[in-house]
Amino acid sequence: MNSAALPCSPFGVRPLTPNLGAEISGVDLATDMSDDLFRAIYAAFLRYQVLLFPPHDLPPGRQVAFARRFGEVQIHVMNQYHADGFPELYRLSNLDENGNPNGKHPDKGTLAWHTDGSWSRITGQATIIYGEVVAGVGGETHFCDMYGAYERLSDAWKARIANMRAVHNLDFSRTRRHGEDPMTDAQRQARPPVDHPVVRTHPETGRDCLYLGDHAEYIVGMPYDEGRALIEELNALAIHPDLTYEHRWKTGELIVWDNRCVLHRATAYDPATERRVVRRCTVLGEVPERRTPVNAATTAR
Ligand SMILES: [Fe+2]
Repeated sequence: MNSAALPCSPFGVRPLTPNLGAEISGVDLATDMSDDLFRAIYAAFLRYQVLLFPPHDLPPGRQVAFARRFGEVQIHVMNQYHADGFPELYRLSNLDENGNPNGKHPDKGTLAWHTDGSWSRITGQATIIYGEVVAGVGGETHFCDMYGAYERLSDAWKARIANMRAVHNLDFSRTRRHGEDPMTDAQRQARPPVDHPVVRTHPETGRDCLYLGDHAEYIVGMPYDEGRALIEELNALAIHPDLTYEHRWKTGELIVWDNRCVLHRATAYDPATERRVVRRCTVLGEVPERRTPVNAATTAR
């Protein structure tokens, strides 16, 4: 892949695939950056959907400071993951107090394609994740472009889902599908299920995207099992190898992605033998909407 630069770009840009993802070089995230530099990073974020920054030392507080440039940072309801004195940071680690693998995967829900914060009324905008300790085998992160996923649906599918809404539920995806420790009653009450359009319009690019993933439980107004089957089918249809970037981590890398138009997942690793520690911030976005006019012809059933 050839390097390419945005016009007047203050940093290097190397696309990671023909479709999405770019490596950004020449930016020091550990120091304050000018508004102009951040605007250029944000423009690249909108254009490439996934940004990779090469290995560097980034203390937790600097990661949070960078995240705050994007917007308000989510304080995750699952407070057992908060890290380093920053409630904005969410740490996934399989290490015990001595730094040895403890044999337990910290969140198996991350192994399924999903988008961060879709279980909340105000959903995730950017997720900013830093690799503190990376696994030797497995523990990759994969990203798939949901603009392309929507564009590749047949006209019949587009018509069928044009006005559909799906209910997203963290308790469903976390507890019932992946056998994680149950949410507490307080956590459940703080995050009741919410419904979102199945097709959302990206508020900044104006492009439509498929918006489902693993937190989507059922379809509003449809029998539960029928909605489950439809979501499973669409989640599978959404993933295309040529719309996917598969990242194999190096220690100290940082990745930023746009949850509004990307699904992601982690790949498995052996938590009994490998070490993996990542810390992440998720920035709050907006309430998803479909803003593009729905053509009468495409809504006919
Ligand atoms: Fe995630």
